[in-house]
Amino acid sequence: MEEAKKAAGYKAVDDHVRSGMVVGLGTGSTAYYAVERVGQKLKSGELKDLVCIPTSEKTKKQALDLGIPLCTLNEKSKLDVAIDGADAVDPKLCLIKGGGGALLREKMVEVVSDKFVVIVDSSKLCKGLGPSFPLPVEITPFCHLHTMNVVASLAEVEGCKPVLRTGDCSNNKPDGEEPAVTDNGNYIVDLHFSKEIADATKAAQAIKKIVGVVDHGIFEGMAYQCIVAFPDGSCRVAG
Ligand code: 5RP
Repeated sequence: MEEAKKAAGYKAVDDHVRSGMVVGLGTGSTAYYAVERVGQKLKSGELKDLVCIPTSEKTKKQALDLGIPLCTLNEKSKLDVAIDGADAVDPKLCLIKGGGGALLREKMVEVVSDKFVVIVDSSKLCKGLGPSFPLPVEITPFCHLHTMNVVASLAEVEGCKPVLRTGDCSNNKPDGEEPAVTDNGNYIVDLHFSKEIADATKAAQAIKKIVGVVDHGIFEGMAYQCIVAFPDGSCRVAG
């Protein structure tokens, strides 16, 4: 799928990024290619006077290595476009994000972007959110086991199994003893659902209300367009 991811990342930049824009740079192995493309086009002079806002320390490093000018939401609180990957995309472009542990900064940046363009390979498409990828929830480290239990006991998320992410934060498969720590110093709980979340809006609202929860990986009503890339290298635009 690597070629497909690259095709989606490059197409998003070619279609949506123009000189003078403020651009949000996503996190993950697909967003990596969009950042790479921005770097190429700045170097060749095809893009000028661009300023970008990275959604993680990892993306910040990649962008700095490519010489991409950066700022933060403190300087620019409105973006022209943000480009980012996703872990699951339903037919209404409702997303699960946070597999890379960057959901909070991603949501903060993408919610204030005029256009949020999602780039995925076709394996991320799903009929309904839930079973294809666990829902990441960022929580404060203080009494995290308590917060995990409260999240899991919600009626709306009944049937889900909460698993504290350990090891590397950008790896959604727990592989260590210590909790994974996000760029914001928080922990991530991955909610594993055996069936589709019946009402993602309701679940999102209920999870967000829990004191101790910082944010969750449901991105609803945010995506402007989704560029889906297929293993044969072709791309299709959804939305
Ligand atoms: C990071 C994310 C990523 O965008 C998401 O996990 C997709 O990553 P990849 O393109 O590597 O599959 O939400 O928090």
